[in-house]
Amino acid sequence: MAYGSTLTTTEDAAPARKSRGAFFTPPKMAEYLADWAIVSPEDTVLEPACGEAEFLIASYKRLMALGANPKEAAERISGCELHADSAQAALARCAELSFEPLIHVGDFFERRQEAAFDVVIGNPPYVRFQVLDSSQKDYFKEVSHRTGYAISALASAWAPFVMHAASFLIAGGRLAFVLPAELLTVNYAASIRTFLLSEFANITIVTFDKQVFPEVQEEVVLLLASGYLSGSSDCIKWRQASDLDRIGEGVDKDYYPGANGKRWTGGLVPAAVADALNALDGGGFCRLGDWGRISLGAVSGNNDYFTLGADDITSIDLDDSDVVRISPPGSKHLRKLAFTDEDHDRLVAQGKKAYLFYPEAASSKAVRRYLEVGVANQVDQGYKCRKRKPWWRVPIVEAPDAFVTYMNDYAPSICINHARVRHLNSVHGLTFADEYRDLGKQLLALACLNSVTLLSAEIEGRAYGGGLLKVEPREAARLQVPSPGLVEAARDRLEAVLDNGAMLLAGSDLLSLRNQVDEALFDGVTGIADGLLEQIRDSKQVLYERRRNRGKGRMRKRTHTPSSRR
Ligand SMILES: C[S@@+](CC[C@H](N)C(=O)[O-])C[C@H]1O[C@@H](n2cnc3c(N)ncnc32)[C@H](O)[C@@H]1O
Repeated sequence: MAYGSTLTTTEDAAPARKSRGAFFTPPKMAEYLADWAIVSPEDTVLEPACGEAEFLIASYKRLMALGANPKEAAERISGCELHADSAQAALARCAELSFEPLIHVGDFFERRQEAAFDVVIGNPPYVRFQVLDSSQKDYFKEVSHRTGYAISALASAWAPFVMHAASFLIAGGRLAFVLPAELLTVNYAASIRTFLLSEFANITIVTFDKQVFPEVQEEVVLLLASGYLSGSSDCIKWRQASDLDRIGEGVDKDYYPGANGKRWTGGLVPAAVADALNALDGGGFCRLGDWGRISLGAVSGNNDYFTLGADDITSIDLDDSDVVRISPPGSKHLRKLAFTDEDHDRLVAQGKKAYLFYPEAASSKAVRRYLEVGVANQVDQGYKCRKRKPWWRVPIVEAPDAFVTYMNDYAPSICINHARVRHLNSVHGLTFADEYRDLGKQLLALACLNSVTLLSAEIEGRAYGGGLLKVEPREAARLQVPSPGLVEAARDRLEAVLDNGAMLLAGSDLLSLRNQVDEALFDGVTGIADGLLEQIRDSKQVLYERRRNRGKGRMRKRTHTPSSRR
């Protein structure tokens, strides 16, 4: 028997449950949402995926507590449920309280608004788009088309559920949902975040310190949205509750999510930290994009073919002019402050693919022979190669001044490209603005290993498979980093840390390194009080662990994991 279910595993087996996203809400959570959403004995309530009635029961109790009579309370509550046995179980549970709500058995996406409700409440199914059948996928498209908010093919069913369910509200109505915490962070939920901010006048989010959903790995948040079609919101009331028993406690803080669709990760940091980060913008910190331009690395279209080691070059008999030096695919070798000619030589000696096949023309015999090998292996038919002319000319960009790693366990790192090699798309490039080039090459890689930038990476980046932190070029440009003025002011202190810093980085002792960089940067320059620095570090740790926990159970690649917290 699953948590909260009255059905046995024979009546409703785990795989079937999983395929419908059937995980039931703890009563305390359902009661909290019903108490918030239902404010009058006359409110009408819809539960669009009612499972075994937790929200129907909580709503009934709430209406009764507000003074509704039993018959009217029952008539005001409707549910929908895909799974007939669950709907039966729901009715049986309600019968124990002597009420009979109207439960429609069927797919909620098939329902069109027959009545408008004051309240829509529940915990919709979390089922990935990929595992839905084609008719359900069509419903997603229909909802997307009807509402005008795009729903990505990566979305989970809860996303269109929120939009479709909201369309059953009267103007001014309230939506109270349990949703996966990915609402705050994932890219595919950008349109839902935009939808909520645009269509509701007030939004509250409740997050929890502890795991509150028995049985499910999924971390959840509560969404309390009111004033449907009665205004829009630019501020979210945010409550961080410790656990289910203290759900109504905790202080609401104001969180301004900024541009539409932007992730809401910043809401997860305490108000004092958020205020400090805001104050640092223009006060000693700037964005990485202010130092220079972030570029995508070249997409070869087939790294096995286009990237070569020294032995390959000899055996194919290519000329030096037929290849260019590159940072080999991957980014592990760039976990250092600078990448030098010696580093490149070392990788070459290790047999790494540190060159790119890049002939000017197909003039030499050796080049022509290698092109024939490519054609014989249908490299020219690959998606990228097919689209360019000639197929073998990889569109590389100028060597950047620095590399920015973008798939990280702990945080992105900047590595200065002293070797002036080109980059493929396994790392981003950073080309400094002329006026900051010298300073940037000397000290920016080190200066970015401070607590504020490490936290900013969690806020701007996104959690990727296995709990890795990914930063796209646009996000890398938004990283909050020490400004040229601050780096210049802290020059002597940062220089004193450089050699030791490189060693700490090589030994992955990131926390000692961070502490030394913090000391060098913040010592009397920006006036970050010690207590606040601790809070900033704690916030990074909280977001870091949150991200890694989300990736638990999936394949995880570890690179830069700090050995201890402090
Ligand atoms: C996460 S469970 C929550 C159940 C209940 N709301 C609760 O909180 O205890 C999601 C429920 O949605 C149902 N469901 C899944 N897809 C549905 C759909 N397209 N229409 C209606 N119900 C659906 C599942 O059978 C499951 O009972």
